[in-house]
Amino acid sequence: MSQNFYDKIARKFGGYGYGNGIKRQYKSEYPRGDPEKIFKEKLLCLSSKDKTALDIGCADGKFTLSVALYFKKVYGIDISRVNLDIANSHSADEGSKNVEYYYQNANHTSFEDSFFDVAYCRRGPTFYKKYHRILKTGGYYFEIGIGEMDTLELKKIFGRGQGYGEWDQSKLDENLKALQNLGFKVIFAQNFHYFEYYPSYEVFDLFLQGVPIFEDFDSEKDRASLQKYVKKFSTDKGIQLSRHRLVMVIQKAINP
Ligand SMILES: C[S@@+](CC[C@H](N)C(=O)[O-])C[C@H]1O[C@@H](n2cnc3c(N)ncnc32)[C@H](O)[C@@H]1O
Repeated sequence: MSQNFYDKIARKFGGYGYGNGIKRQYKSEYPRGDPEKIFKEKLLCLSSKDKTALDIGCADGKFTLSVALYFKKVYGIDISRVNLDIANSHSADEGSKNVEYYYQNANHTSFEDSFFDVAYCRRGPTFYKKYHRILKTGGYYFEIGIGEMDTLELKKIFGRGQGYGEWDQSKLDENLKALQNLGFKVIFAQNFHYFEYYPSYEVFDLFLQGVPIFEDFDSEKDRASLQKYVKKFSTDKGIQLSRHRLVMVIQKAINP
């Protein structure tokens, strides 16, 4: 995952994610619930106005702002300067008064030991040992991450992509093992498999330009592969894409 990729995307689309309101242009079907929604519900359930939280890999701060009012203070860190500039440009917003953004690598933060009540990560870096250090005993770590099956059929046709050929085991099991070895207690852990349906080739292409599935995605060079995928996975509902997310709620145990 390179920081330049997120700078490039933020320059192109004015922030992280999808340009031109693309998120509204595709539909999702969740057989076991929407993982993003469940992640946020769980986070807010354990939020309070006396707690300090860390948003790890906050990007343009959209999500940070959406939860800030539920905490005493939220610190957002990222290594994409372009995204942080965008996040800071919203500093006049109501929800921004208790938010501070810092250019910091999650692997080497300058925060004191046991500084945070809560740390959370939405598809960002996972340096669990470092997160254990900065969390208070009894504090919580929340993560929504990308599962090993995410967009696998697409990656197979492209012959490359995020984690392709490397993610050969359950990411959830792998993460839980690493967290438990550090003395974290698992409060909640679940895989979510679901589908997205894109209304047209053009919308699907635009979506791929704004996400790290293929950091080097090129609409021209990848046309043949994308056409092959679209032909194979076109349905009555649109072009189908299989997604896989994992959601975890973890506590820094009182008695490790
Ligand atoms: C997939 S984006 C997710 C952004 C945001 N959390 C969201 O949900 O919209 C991952 C973010 O993590 C940041 N990131 C990657 N490695 C990082 C690191 N070592 N330290 C801090 N941020 C990092 C990237 O710059 C990027 O903004």
